[in-house]
Amino acid sequence: METLSVALGDRAYPIHIGRGLLGRSELLLPVLRQPKVAIVTNTTVAPLYLDQLAGGLRRAGVTVAEIVLPDGERFKDWQTLNSIFDVLLEQRCERSTTLIALGGGVVGDMTGFAAACYQRGMPFIQVPTTLLSQVDSSVGGKTAINHPLGKNMIGAFYQPRLVLADTDTLSTLPDRELRAGLAEVIKYGLIRDLPFLEWLEANLDALLARDPQALAYAIHRSCHNKAEVVVADEHENGERALLNLGHTFGHAIETGMGYGEWLHGEAVAVGTLMAAELSRRMGWIGSADVQRIESLYVRAGLPVCGPQLAAERYLELMQHDKKVQDGKLRLVLLQAVGRAVVSDAAQPADIFGAVASRSPHV
Ligand code: NAD
Ligand code: GLY
Repeated sequence: METLSVALGDRAYPIHIGRGLLGRSELLLPVLRQPKVAIVTNTTVAPLYLDQLAGGLRRAGVTVAEIVLPDGERFKDWQTLNSIFDVLLEQRCERSTTLIALGGGVVGDMTGFAAACYQRGMPFIQVPTTLLSQVDSSVGGKTAINHPLGKNMIGAFYQPRLVLADTDTLSTLPDRELRAGLAEVIKYGLIRDLPFLEWLEANLDALLARDPQALAYAIHRSCHNKAEVVVADEHENGERALLNLGHTFGHAIETGMGYGEWLHGEAVAVGTLMAAELSRRMGWIGSADVQRIESLYVRAGLPVCGPQLAAERYLELMQHDKKVQDGKLRLVLLQAVGRAVVSDAAQPADIFGAVASRSPHV
């Protein structure tokens, strides 16, 4: 097991990464404020991993309530969130009961938001079980649900007390989900870690073959990058926005197509290519750079062309982006491969052109 720290002063917390961690309750016990937890998971993950996690805790004398949500991005909404509160109240959970998210980013984001709200804040732990959640969403305290008009629009910054990433859980992850997670791994290389991007180019086949050492390295390096950014800018007043490379376009795809049609990582891959094309049009990177990014996504089995969605619709949806300031769209763009910036300088015609360059011809 390797442990990183998210160094947020008195709210600092560890990220444990390794194999066979789910049943190791001794890793969780130090952060529990009372011997009672509620585990939130979903109908897919519960039969795979709930017993391992809950069993370990029960053997250590902890009372465990179980909350099993329906599976899917389309359930990341108020109704499902409220069903968490129903159980917490029925089970007489207190402010010092710990909420544990067991699952991917959907469960993690919803559980974190529930923890931020229940009795004005209860402790929570992230136990991520997808590649995407192990490299990104479980770290950094962004919690949210979706709104029909925009992705992750209702939420809170609320840090977990601990992240437990058991890499053995990735063995049951469908290939499509593994590939979607790789989009967020590649993101770190593109925005701030060129040597990592080069490592990914050299080791992508090992990652796709689920080589445990390659996966552990990629997760560790991703979390290291994420933790550094979060510590520097917890509430996204600056640098943290760079973690949203491709997300403004990608969120438009997810919302525009209906939540769950496109996986988050798939939408981010296409969105990143749109951002790269826009950066090329602004004279910052060259065609060879765009080509380089595209070929990595192709090798990763990620889409490189978006859905049938009109450019005008993208622009409309992108106006709901959380980076919009004084009504002005701000986008994460590439000044170079390995160096991202936030810019409001893109002209609408170039944004249209970048979207069209990655959209099917009608
Ligand atoms: P997800 O949570 O929907 O999980 C993907 C699928 O895999 C689901 O069907 C899930 O039930 C299943 N699954 C989970 N673990 C499994 C396992 N070990 N074996 C088999 N199946 C398993 O999707 P995701 O990609 O993990 O997360 C995407 C979500 O994360 C989006 O809602 C996105 O907005 C959010 N996100 C949040 C942040 C953040 O900083 N908070 C960052 C990136 C993404
Ligand atoms: N995934 C983007 C962030 O955590 O800021």
